[in-house]
Amino acid sequence: MMTTTPSTASPTSVRALFDAMSYGPAPEGDAPARQWIEAHGGVFGHFINGRWVSGSAVFDVFEPATGNRLAQVAQGTAADIEAAVTAARAALPAWRALSDHARARWLYALARGIQKHARHFAVLESLDNGKPIRETRDIDIPLVARHFYHHAGWAQLLGAEFPGHQGYGVVGQVIPWNFPLLMLAWKVAPALAAGNTVVLKPAEFTPLTALRFAELVQEVGLPQGVFNLVTGDGTTGAALVEHPDVDKIAFTGSTDVGRSIRRATAGTGKGLSLELGGKSPFVVFEDADLDSVVEGVVDAIWFNQGQVCCAGSRLLVQEGIAERLVERLKARMEHLRVGHPLDKAIDMGAIIAPVQLERIRSLCAQGVEEGATCWQPSWAVPTEGSFHPPTLFTDVAPSATIAQVEIFGPVLVTLTFRTPEEAVALANNTPYGLAASVWSENINLALDVAPKLKCGVVWINSTNLFDAASGFGGYRESGFGREGGREGMWEYLKPVPAESGAPAPVLDPAGELAPVAASGGEESAIMPPIDRTPKLFIGGKQVRPDSGYSRPVMGADGRLLGEVGDGNRKDLRNAVEAAHAAAGWARLAGHQRAQILYYLAENLSARAGEFAARLSAMTGEVTTTAASEVEAAIARLFTYAAWADKYDGAVHDVPLRGVALAMHEPIGVVGVACPDPSPLLGLVSLVAPLVATGNRVVVIPSERYPLAATDLYSVFETSDLPAGVVNLVTGARDPLSRVLAEHDDVDAVWYVGSREGATAVERASAANLKRTWTEWTPRHWRDPRMGEGRAFLRRATQVKNLWIPYGE
Ligand code: NAI
Repeated sequence: MMTTTPSTASPTSVRALFDAMSYGPAPEGDAPARQWIEAHGGVFGHFINGRWVSGSAVFDVFEPATGNRLAQVAQGTAADIEAAVTAARAALPAWRALSDHARARWLYALARGIQKHARHFAVLESLDNGKPIRETRDIDIPLVARHFYHHAGWAQLLGAEFPGHQGYGVVGQVIPWNFPLLMLAWKVAPALAAGNTVVLKPAEFTPLTALRFAELVQEVGLPQGVFNLVTGDGTTGAALVEHPDVDKIAFTGSTDVGRSIRRATAGTGKGLSLELGGKSPFVVFEDADLDSVVEGVVDAIWFNQGQVCCAGSRLLVQEGIAERLVERLKARMEHLRVGHPLDKAIDMGAIIAPVQLERIRSLCAQGVEEGATCWQPSWAVPTEGSFHPPTLFTDVAPSATIAQVEIFGPVLVTLTFRTPEEAVALANNTPYGLAASVWSENINLALDVAPKLKCGVVWINSTNLFDAASGFGGYRESGFGREGGREGMWEYLKPVPAESGAPAPVLDPAGELAPVAASGGEESAIMPPIDRTPKLFIGGKQVRPDSGYSRPVMGADGRLLGEVGDGNRKDLRNAVEAAHAAAGWARLAGHQRAQILYYLAENLSARAGEFAARLSAMTGEVTTTAASEVEAAIARLFTYAAWADKYDGAVHDVPLRGVALAMHEPIGVVGVACPDPSPLLGLVSLVAPLVATGNRVVVIPSERYPLAATDLYSVFETSDLPAGVVNLVTGARDPLSRVLAEHDDVDAVWYVGSREGATAVERASAANLKRTWTEWTPRHWRDPRMGEGRAFLRRATQVKNLWIPYGE
């Protein structure tokens, strides 16, 4: 509602009337939400196995806008987590056994329930979190309903669209406070749709809408134990993460906690998806529509008080327009309104808690200390509660703390660039990789820049667009896994264990090759003489190991078959460098990569007999078995040559005049530790999908049977494989894998070996949050159902969602 205040200007001047107008209060009523809290006596317990359970201790939850206590909730203990996990486990078989349609009906019921109580949820969320009612009412809650509807659809289509897959089992989910109910929806809807049961731990600052959701679960009559809620702080979250009977953890929150969860789950076999922090660039080229840019910036960094993981917090502006844009932004900032979140006419509400406000203030102070210029509007923010004005920094050095650290508040830092190349370099100058916005009226320029940005979502001439149909998630230290769309569903699914009718792996329980009765003398007699020591293969060249040592390779008959280089840290470093230098591989068309994979297959085929003899001598397999391994490796190369131009992305159907493109991008440089069983086929099965999708690899061949791999480099050399795409470093598998896992320039590690080795890899990967795929149980590589296909391609790529609105 607008009111006018007395003005000294002429009463007939329309301009004067406009200048004098200001906003009157437009409060949304909070009585129903407060009555709901009162009806519970202001104290809430946990929701376990369909019942409310009081906690042994409680803590206070405050209203950020006033600092007043809103309610008390239970502090979950390890015993509460135990009870919740037990309930979820007990509920799993029946939930999983339901028909897809039945699960779809439950998700639909939840979606309807949220819609029916939408305003109640919105007001409660604003009270608890401090975000404007305009946002909870128009963005958060409608998106929550949308997620449940969308995933009711995936539940319905589960069997048809994800054949051979089922839910992980019991899923533990830990969520943050910035979008409390929306994060719940992003987690719970896909988990339930995929047939998992859930234990959720909401953030300690904002548990109320999750508690109201638990009530809704009870109202719609979801089977007991399918959804369980335990409130509490980080220790409760840690207890959930560490619980041995949880099959998968999904986490959204800070990068530091994400790292600790990676370490805590290392070697446990638990599935993991992490959605972490960001420092997302907002790139403005000089031909951009500046009026739209200004509104875009408002939505990028002042939406939700800047407490958004994908907030466009780094404004990168082309030099020629920087001054003009900054002036326009300042003018716009003067007109932003900060105030009580339940006021329908405010733009920004309260910061979540005094501790976060303090963090924002101290980072701003540090910005000034480091020489940047701080600008804030002339008006003051309310003094009661936790409020921070919109803030703009200029004169910021790219290395300044405020340009590097996630502030998680309404603070924008501005940097300038001259050329598109410089923009890309600046944009990628961060360990994070969540999102980016690109603004230009030249669609060619925008679409050229978008794939060069290392992040999971790119918005063209737009920002902060979300929808259940489109995946969301990061690259690099912003975490891994996607939420939303088909790609988000995969995070909650795993292959159904092989049926009893499947062919039995030729493996013993220790994962070693069970020798198929070697027929002795005449087989080894066809071996070529030992006349050379294979070297390492790095950057397309055969090189001697840095250590100056070699390792013996013994044949199945106990004779020395040959020697291979004993690779070390330095060799791996060189190999990683060579792999990075081969970045052009990722830019080749799928068809070109396919040609090279076919050529590899052809050249391997030409030497099949020689490879079979080598395998047979090492492993003791009869030559016919070895020959069939070589044939299977050739077929596998064909499979991925076939896939190279067919692993398409998707066009998501989002509610937007435009398109959202889900593009598969290679992960980058991937370390691969190969299994001992099927030493040739195992290597090819791991390397080919990675290479087919544009990755470059540093391979540690089978430690026990390395000669199959070292023979391969002569095949590489004759097959036009560009230097650095595949690098081979022979040596001790576990120590070398660990080096790769610790290496900051390695983007992912695939490891097949021992459980101890897998644990070490996962633990070490936490430093730069690289993607890992570890396995220590035997895999039947010859069976195409286990040894090849989409599961490998999915792991070899990450999805970038590119939002392109169109129209004048
Ligand atoms: P946080 O990462 O500590 O909290 C997120 C959730 O994790 C909460 O539910 C918390 O109880 C839980 N948690 C904390 N420690 C845990 C542990 N060891 N094991 C399992 N769960 C644990 O984030 P916090 O402290 O609330 O905010 C600090 C900073 O984190 C913010 O300033 C911001 O930079 C970042 N952040 C990023 C978010 C995002 O969406 N990417 C969301 C929230 C915070």
